[in-house]
Amino acid sequence: MTDIEELLLSRIRDVADYPEPGVMFKDITPLLADPAAFTALTDALAEIAANTGATKVVGLEARGFILGAPVAVRAGLGFIPVRKAGKLPGATLGQTYDLEYGSAEIEVHAEDLFADDRILIVDDVLATGGTAEAAIQLIRRAGAEVAGLAILMELGFLGGRARLEPALTGAPLEAL
Ligand code: PRP
Repeated sequence: MTDIEELLLSRIRDVADYPEPGVMFKDITPLLADPAAFTALTDALAEIAANTGATKVVGLEARGFILGAPVAVRAGLGFIPVRKAGKLPGATLGQTYDLEYGSAEIEVHAEDLFADDRILIVDDVLATGGTAEAAIQLIRRAGAEVAGLAILMELGFLGGRARLEPALTGAPLEAL
């Protein structure tokens, strides 16, 4: 394990039985509160943005906003929020996706994405991959290209990476 991986991991708190019994929640607030760890994370994600040739950063609500916005600033790129349905005031494109029970929808302002954009998607956790898959579909439908997906942590046992591989069509999935 690298020094940065060790630092980041040491600042993620496992909270048992949250938000419901049987779930081990990964709490990133200790990492956000530590300037050395938050800066190291931002720098590592900004390096991925540079390596993938991204032209914009998309953050997925809500923790993807906290991580993605400083990455965009550090990399000199614009930031685009992908929000849960009903939160954006302008003309939106929406994408529904299945949850364990029921479904959810995410939206983006259509005018924020251009055909020649290469988008780096940033989020905190990759679990089942449903949210990221919907974001990839949304970005493609807007005509833009997906440069890659950069996340803080991957819960490998939930199979998100395998699910996303076809959708990513060769774009990198980097989990720190
Ligand atoms: C969490 C996490 C990812 C998503 C991962 O967000 O921040 O966005 O779930 O899960 P998946 O890979 O199974 O789709 P959540 O929906 O809890 O939203 P929040 O950040 O607004 O609490």
